[in-house]
Amino acid sequence: MQTSIGVSHAKIILMGEHAVVYHQPAIALPIKAIRLTATLRPQPKDQMIASTFYSGSLRAAAKTRFAGIAQLIRQLLRFFDAEQQGFMLTIASELPAERGMGSSAATAVAIVRAFYQAFGQALPREILLNWASVSEKLIHGNPSGLDAATTSASHPQWFIKNQKPKALRLPPEGVLVIADTGTSGHTGEAVGQVAALLQGDKDYYQPEIAAIGNLVKVGALALAQDDLVTLGHLMTTNQQHLKTLGVSTPALDHLVDVAEDAGALGAKLTGSGLGGCMIALAKDVSTAQKVAAALTGAGAKETWVYDFSTKDDGQ
Ligand code: MEV
Repeated sequence: MQTSIGVSHAKIILMGEHAVVYHQPAIALPIKAIRLTATLRPQPKDQMIASTFYSGSLRAAAKTRFAGIAQLIRQLLRFFDAEQQGFMLTIASELPAERGMGSSAATAVAIVRAFYQAFGQALPREILLNWASVSEKLIHGNPSGLDAATTSASHPQWFIKNQKPKALRLPPEGVLVIADTGTSGHTGEAVGQVAALLQGDKDYYQPEIAAIGNLVKVGALALAQDDLVTLGHLMTTNQQHLKTLGVSTPALDHLVDVAEDAGALGAKLTGSGLGGCMIALAKDVSTAQKVAAALTGAGAKETWVYDFSTKDDGQ
């Protein structure tokens, strides 16, 4: 094992969360300016982890909320025939945890990249995504794979579960504002809640899932035609369906309304919901700044701006 560094970044889902779990398409954007690094250093003994989520031995991590990632690390050690190898794994993350920005997937992606680099092996993308699903399944139960695909990607993603993701092009104009409600959203809980609704009343909820999938397809057309007004409407309609699925919260709804009143073309929650972040689409930077200021005034804990034209995807 050599010292190595694996890198990943945040993601936001433009449209299609939750429905993507049921094989509908989704569109997600990598936020490369918000980074996570995993640094792996061999040492004579002890298998240790240092991060903001968990610090301590690999062995003791099994009983913590880091257990899914710990299991991934154990499987990687076994794969590289290095179960007895001592190491220090340091994870430095700019991503807020449990805010719909893909922190668990980004952690897995960076760790897998660090291990493959440490053992001098090439890492094809399908293999990376397979590895990330080890911890994502343990943490979230039934992940679509979208978070891992986007936190490891350099381009916007058109994603359908169990299919190879495709890169999408963004319009030359348009600015997204991302705002954090400051409350945690638990992906596993939100995905489980939607599954329970579908189980309880399939006739009512299945059309909601299909409707989101159709919005995403029209959203891809709007992107291809640089039609931000239509994209904004589609995002707001997507939010209505997410509300019907029960994953929005009063705080998310409030920030969506505030963004629209401040001039956004459309707004919605992003990620699993039940807390976490929302996104708003603005036609230009000055409108985005007004929207961001209004969101901060309405209680958003942090905002980021993603400018389509400059690919200035953060801060
Ligand atoms: C979470 O970021 C996105 C969800 O659609 C779950 C998933 O795709 O695995 C809610």
